[in-house]
Parts: sequence; C-alpha cells; structure tokens
Amino acid sequence: MDRQNMQSESNRGVIAKPVFLGNAPAIERVRVAADRVARGDAKVLITGESGVGKDVLGRYLHAQSPRARSPFVALNCAGVSETLLESELFGHVKGSFTGAHRDKIGKLQLAHRGTIFLDEIGEMSLRMQALLLRFLENGEIQPVGADTPAARVDVRVISATNRNLPEMVAAGQFREDLMYRIKVVHLHVPPLRERADDIRLLVQHAITRTGSQVIIDEEAMQVLERYRWPGNVRELQNVVEQLAWLGHDGRVGVPDLPPALLAAAPSAIMRKHERRRQVADDLFQTLTSGSHKFWDHVYTLFLNRDITRHDMRELVRRGLTATSGNYRAMLHLFGIDSRDYKRFLNFLAAHDCNVDFRQFRTGVTATPIERPAVVGAPASPIHRPPLQGGNVH
Ligand SMILES: Nc1ncnc2c1ncn2[C@@H]1O[C@H](COP(=O)(O)OP(=O)(O)OP(=O)(O)O)[C@@H](O)[C@H]1O
Ligand SMILES: [Mg+2]
Repeated sequence: MDRQNMQSESNRGVIAKPVFLGNAPAIERVRVAADRVARGDAKVLITGESGVGKDVLGRYLHAQSPRARSPFVALNCAGVSETLLESELFGHVKGSFTGAHRDKIGKLQLAHRGTIFLDEIGEMSLRMQALLLRFLENGEIQPVGADTPAARVDVRVISATNRNLPEMVAAGQFREDLMYRIKVVHLHVPPLRERADDIRLLVQHAITRTGSQVIIDEEAMQVLERYRWPGNVRELQNVVEQLAWLGHDGRVGVPDLPPALLAAAPSAIMRKHERRRQVADDLFQTLTSGSHKFWDHVYTLFLNRDITRHDMRELVRRGLTATSGNYRAMLHLFGIDSRDYKRFLNFLAAHDCNVDFRQFRTGVTATPIERPAVVGAPASPIHRPPLQGGNVH
C-alpha cells in the first residue's frame, strides 16, 4: 500500500484527540488563534519549518471545529506523480489511465462535511494548482477521465507548507490567486528554538510516548533546552526515543547525549564533564597498569570524597567498555580479589554507582586488555567476554 493510501486508510478510522502541547507565549498565540478560527469555515494555511507541528495543528483545528465528527482526510502533495495526485484528490473513472481498473472516489469526496488537509502544498505542479483553484471556486469535483463534474462537496481546506509561498509566487512557481484563496487565515508555527520554555514539556511527552521510565538529569535537560533543534519537535522526539533505551539504569546524563547536542552544550557543563572524563581515565590507567588496586586506592579516594559518585560511575563505564559489559571480568582489571565480587557489587549499589551493563554487550571481539601481574592475582590477560558471558546476577 502506498503512502497516500496508508494515510487514507488511517484517516477513515477513529482519530485520537490530537495534542498540541506548549505554554510558551509564541505557541499560546497560535493556539488562541487556532481555537478562534476553528469555529468557522475559513481556509487556513499553516506554515513553519519542517517538524514544528503543522500536521498536529491541522488535526487540532479539525478536532476543535464543528466538523470534528466528520472525516479529516490528509493528502501529501509531495513525492507523487501529477496523475496520481489528481486521481487522489478528485478520484478517477475506470479505464481513464493504465492501472485504473475501477472507479475510485477522491479524497475531496471522502472528506465531505469534514476537513481536507493538503500537506506540502508548495510542491504542487502549476497544472495541479490550476485544478485545485477551479475546485475552490466552484466546489465541483471532476474525476480523472470523467466528462462532467461528479459531485459538489462541502469540505474545509487546511493547507500546510514549509516553503515560502510569496517567494515561490515571485519566482513564478506558485499561483498568486491560489495563494490568496488558501490563505484566508495564516497560522505560523514558530521553530522550537523560539519556544525553549516548552522543551521540558515536549521531552516529557515524548518519554511517555515511548513507554519508558527514563529520567533525564538536570544538566542533560539544560543541554536539551539550549540546543537549536534544526529538525524541531520531530528531532526532539527522535533524540528522546534513542535516549529512552540507552540511558544508564534509566538515567540519562550529559555523556549519553548524541554528539550534535554535546557540540552545542554550554561550555561550563562541558568543562565539568571533561574533568570527570579525565579523572576516570587517570583512575582507569592507574588500576589497569597494576600500580594500584581498587580497594586500597579508588575506594579510599571515594571515602575521603576526593572523587565523586559521578567519577566512580565513569570509571565503571570504562571497565564495562573494556570487558564488553562483564562485571566479573572487571575484578581482575581493577585488582579486586574474585572473592570480593559481592562486596564490589554491593559497594556500587549502595552508593548508586552501578551502571547498566547491557548497553556494553556489543559482541565485538576487541584487543585483550592486560593487567600486569600483581602478587596474589592471576597474570592472564582479560579477554573481552562473549556476548552471553558473565552476568552481575
Ligand atoms: N505542539 C506539539 N505537541 C505535541 N506533539 C508535537 C507538537 N508539535 C509537534 N509534535 C510532534 O512532532 C512530530 C512532528 O510534528 P508534525 O508532523 O506535525 O510536523 P510538521 O510541521 O508537519 O513536519 P513536516 O514539515 O516535516 O511535515 C510529530 O510526531 C508530532 O506529534
Ligand atoms: Mg507535516
């Protein structure tokens, strides 16, 4: 089933009440205007960058309107041939073109008494624009291949685009008369970077949608709030989906954020994490070189508060990376007696320093890490264990 038909199928079903979230003044203004125009039949043009929520706003408008109980039918005008688009919009009669095996009703007719959402209207060819204009002027539907109009329909038209229509008009790519027809009311959805106050709300909503219980810590949230989000709410949702399943023990910290976000993070936060990384690297080096053992050195530093819980977690992450997620294999690496396995796990749990080992289970065989022989410890190299190897349980 192609994209167009999939949309049409889903639109025939029951539509969940759309949520158009946001309390930032810029979005509040759009919602107030939407609530007001929803009551009437005026044609609405929704503009805004990709991923800002034009689709959501279109559905919201319909749901708020007196037409809410009638169909909302969406049609994406991009990426389909002109013939297919014409047939999708107006329907066709059997035999009107190759593959037209039977009569088909167009989306305008399916949307009778309801709303048609013409998405990416800026991508319509000039010929299609002329056909749409004719329909908007007389309300008549002429299916492809039919000699006479088949029906008159009552639909409310909402269009959306991320293109600049006046510029397209100036360049001769969009009909000026059509632009004015579809833009009786113009709603512009601002980019996410202009409503950073809503980021927390949208992040929380996106987490709930994933069904995960992940918690994003305060510093990571601040990075999310300051990022520019060129892909707007859609990008935010994608990032949250990744984080929901990658976070350590259900917590997401700054190191878990994708590189693009880290590159844009405030320098104070990054300096702090750079220091943490450095501390963890030094501790890891000290342990794996054999010059110190975990209980004598790292544990003591921790008790004396010379290193923090964050440093300890970073160190554990280094260990899990080196052992492909095998806590037991970390014992030898850190100079811990194998009889102290439980003690080690209990210590990490008691101080909230344990890290979910699953994300380190790559199954990739890496270079073995050697720890020089120390008195009382086996001298064999630690090989990255196989995927199923060593569990914390
Ligand atoms: N205000 C909002 N409240 C809740 N979810 C939102 C909001 N804005 C956007 N979203 C979500 O973000 C995603 C992108 O939104 P939408 O598809 O409406 O964007 P768009 O502007 O139509 O994008 P495009 O230009 O790429 O078609 C969707 O999953 C949508 O549910
Ligand atoms: Mg859209």
